[in-house]
Amino acid sequence: CRVVVLISGSGSNLQAIIDGCDDNLNADVVGVISHKPDAYGLIRAHQSEIDTSCVIPYANEARSDYDARLLKAIEKYQPDLVILAGFMRILTDELVSHFLGKMINIHPSLLPKYTGLHTHQRAIDSGDKEHGASVHFVIPELDAGPVILQAKVPIYPEDNAEVLAERVHEQEHAIYPLVVKWFSLGRLAMTDGKAYLDGELI
Ligand code: GRF
Repeated sequence: CRVVVLISGSGSNLQAIIDGCDDNLNADVVGVISHKPDAYGLIRAHQSEIDTSCVIPYANEARSDYDARLLKAIEKYQPDLVILAGFMRILTDELVSHFLGKMINIHPSLLPKYTGLHTHQRAIDSGDKEHGASVHFVIPELDAGPVILQAKVPIYPEDNAEVLAERVHEQEHAIYPLVVKWFSLGRLAMTDGKAYLDGELI
């Protein structure tokens, strides 16, 4: 399974997937794409001798023009699966539709709770007792695609957003490679906006 990973920053999830591929994920990260030239994840990719591309937005570039360039950069790798791993740009419907059922994202909340940003602080402010991360198929609506796998963590009274984010991150590194493995083994599918594992509705 040929995998392309889109990043904006640290790329710790990218690293977890690279490490998993070295073991037994049945997948190969064939390219890493960033919209920021200084994303640390690009260094991680170089260290693992993975090809990288930077697609940097021009000043005032229309989103559709940017995504057309991004699409080309992704297609260059002929991926079976496109993974968003901390990619902090909203994608056009067109781009998402192009990869429907072949694009997944990880979001740091127990979806459908807390789509968008600042999820850790929002979970704390709401007095939640638990929080977590969700891997989901990407659909045009932001963070609204069908959930494939979630991991839960407790929220303790003394937590701040930073501590909680770290606890969630650890779980992300466990669940994301697992979902990649399921996909690469042909066990996962999205049909009519619903996610299936081994033919069973998730
Ligand atoms: C993760 O928390 C992920 O859930 C969110 O962005 C963060 C990326 O972290 N979408 P990293 O770059 O993989 O370390």
